[in-house]
Amino acid sequence: MSQRPNDPADYTPFFSYRDNALCCEGVSLSSIAEQALTPIYIYSRASILAAFRGFGHAFRAVPHTICYAVKANSNLSLLRLLARAGSSFDIVSGGELYRLLQIGVSGRRIVFSGVGKSREEIREALRARILLFNVEAESELELLAEEAARVRRPAPAALRLNPDVGGGGHPHISTGSHQHKFGIGWDDAMALYTAKVQSPWISWRGLSTHIGSQILSLAPFRRAVGRIASFVRLLQSSGVGLSFIDFGGGLGVRYTSENPPTAEQYAKIVIRKLGPLGCRLLLEPGRAIVGPAGILLTRVLHLKSSYGKTFIIVDAAMNDFIRPALYDAIHPVTPVVRNAGKTLRADIVGPVCETGDAFLHDWPIQTVQPGDLLALWGTGAYGFIQASNYNSRPRPAEVLVNGKVFSTIRRRESNRDLIREELR
Ligand code: LLP
Repeated sequence: MSQRPNDPADYTPFFSYRDNALCCEGVSLSSIAEQALTPIYIYSRASILAAFRGFGHAFRAVPHTICYAVKANSNLSLLRLLARAGSSFDIVSGGELYRLLQIGVSGRRIVFSGVGKSREEIREALRARILLFNVEAESELELLAEEAARVRRPAPAALRLNPDVGGGGHPHISTGSHQHKFGIGWDDAMALYTAKVQSPWISWRGLSTHIGSQILSLAPFRRAVGRIASFVRLLQSSGVGLSFIDFGGGLGVRYTSENPPTAEQYAKIVIRKLGPLGCRLLLEPGRAIVGPAGILLTRVLHLKSSYGKTFIIVDAAMNDFIRPALYDAIHPVTPVVRNAGKTLRADIVGPVCETGDAFLHDWPIQTVQPGDLLALWGTGAYGFIQASNYNSRPRPAEVLVNGKVFSTIRRRESNRDLIREELR
């Protein structure tokens, strides 16, 4: 245990201070910065595998398939790592499908969620013979039937039920209430299932839902599994048998002082209600698998005081990591090399020309100098994947640590990359 309260290094075994220098597994972050520059995303392979295996272990009592939510982090090397560990995948676009096909993942290991699938995306997914389409609108179902008829193969389908249960760490990432665009309401879903029972081109295989993300208590999950179980029972009694119940993702992680349920606690309430229905459970965790496995390494560019406030200006910005700006998310920052210096309170901000480009306000941190390295914690999920080129800033590199070695799994963009697709 470090002596500092609430230090992120205290709650992960995969990042730790050795002789006051922060390491990811057996690699010092300073050595990565020396070779690969900053800002840079760094992921622990062991952390991802441990989370994936832990999640699966929690559901060991029932037939289940973990479909990692590709949107959380779709780097090919991480997808390959998870595929080799036995993961299936949840996708939400043709682009995510393309990524998986590129690394040789079979369609049988892919479920397709998402609120608006295009004809082309449906076509490509049918061609790949995916496991399940989670359909979110009547017209999407018609489109799916049309395309299935074209290839003369019934499409394996589920409806995404909107269970009218809200959950999630921020209004932007809550998806399960009646006012949200996601899924189909109870009565309409029931009507659609029955209407298509005889369809030659829609083969009902499942029911899906997803109520939100970064959910920190079991209560919304409990309400949702109750609703889903009642719905499936009703379906079964009206002659619609299903093979799969896809309960989505959403389990939260600890970024600062949150206290999310464990995978075991989560699994227990899901299994209790959904286990007896005789279907295989599909789970779509994203954040819980990769979130805690990543940090964003950044270097201090400048320090300044203005009207009595201290600003630490770093070389990462909101274009590299947007969660604080978009969801008021708190991701702790700690120095990569600890010293015995005084602690000050500072705003840690990036160089982008927006006031919102701030990672933390009034944050306690040891005195730092330009050139010092800082770690921004918990950035493995929805980090790089939401990065942009705003302010014409090339996107950062990504590195995967495996024990004592690391490899670059995405090279840093260059200025040339910024204009590559534009007319000159
Ligand atoms: N399944 C579906 C259908 C989803 O929409 C999502 C996330 C997941 C699974 C995975 O959820 P997770 O286990 O990661 O919570 N950009 C936001 C998060 C958006 C999540 C959207 N859907 C953030 O940075 O917090």
